[in-house]
Amino acid sequence: MSDQPETEVTVHAGATTGSTRAVKAVIPAAGLATRFLPATKAVPKELLPVVDRPVLQYIVEEATAAGIRDVLLITGRGKTSMVDHFDRRPDLEARLEEKGDDARLAAVRGPSELADIFTCRQHEQLGLGHAVGCAQSHVGDEPFAVLLGDEFVKPSEPLLPAMLELQARTGGVVLAFFEVPPAETKRYGIASVAPTDGEFADLGDVVEVTGLVEKPAPEEAPSNLAVLGRYVLPGRIFEAIGRTEPGAGGEIQLTDAMELLRAEGVPVHAIVYRGTRYDTGMPLGYLQTVVQIAAERDDLGAEFRAWLAEFVASDSPGGAQ
Ligand code: UTP
Repeated sequence: MSDQPETEVTVHAGATTGSTRAVKAVIPAAGLATRFLPATKAVPKELLPVVDRPVLQYIVEEATAAGIRDVLLITGRGKTSMVDHFDRRPDLEARLEEKGDDARLAAVRGPSELADIFTCRQHEQLGLGHAVGCAQSHVGDEPFAVLLGDEFVKPSEPLLPAMLELQARTGGVVLAFFEVPPAETKRYGIASVAPTDGEFADLGDVVEVTGLVEKPAPEEAPSNLAVLGRYVLPGRIFEAIGRTEPGAGGEIQLTDAMELLRAEGVPVHAIVYRGTRYDTGMPLGYLQTVVQIAAERDDLGAEFRAWLAEFVASDSPGGAQ
């Protein structure tokens, strides 16, 4: 593991038509997580458990399932425990081994075997664009994936492999969108899009991105396609981040850096994802995630579903006992 200082942003030409497939992932996880306070005062939201694994483990598993073995966590103050989760615990492992508890032993070792985990500290929370910029010295000129630390998709309905392939074909910026009810556009970044001519039909519903608007009112929204927390970016994004002035909220926005590239002719495409997305960044989405994943677990799903059905059917606010 390495802890690199934030680096000066230097100019890299980068490729606009590439054939290199991204092999590294960056997980920005230095944010303050204000929507989940006070839980996130001392515990990073990335470590909140979904049943018995922290959110971050699902995210790293999503990256490794797409063939990525090099993962850079952008961390901040009070977030070092995130890295510990991917380290070995010899004391705990020895105790479980003594007891012959093979299942728990495998569960404890699993995270440390998933990927090579690197870390980089974002010293000040200056925005998502700035956080991604911190990855420059680790990533270099190559394309890379960005996975936000509070959402993930159902493993049986993957998104990242098609995004990686699309980026390797276009050499540009690749985003992912999901459809939201029109009344909810003001909670998300919303895209304006144009159809593609079917060139990428084998990769799903691929659209060309013609613009992005932050949290528009429904009557002003150009579509109901919201930005999902997965990006595959060319290395030249770093140079664009270096030129990006603070935007919404006084933060250096990744959206603004991508927009600079788009205005300069870099292709920007997106895949419209229609699978299951879990958003754990605030209490309601987190609860929905826990319930869905618990209900589908082989070990406790049946019992949990039976209890849940009884609880929901019961009239008393305290629910079934
Ligand atoms: P969010 O907009 O979700 O912000 O950031 P947040 O701080 O995590 O949560 P709220 O909105 O205050 O509740 C999107 C992603 O970018 C990271 C966050 O950790 C999250 O994964 N981020 C954001 C950084 O790493 N650094 C920043 O300066 C800002």
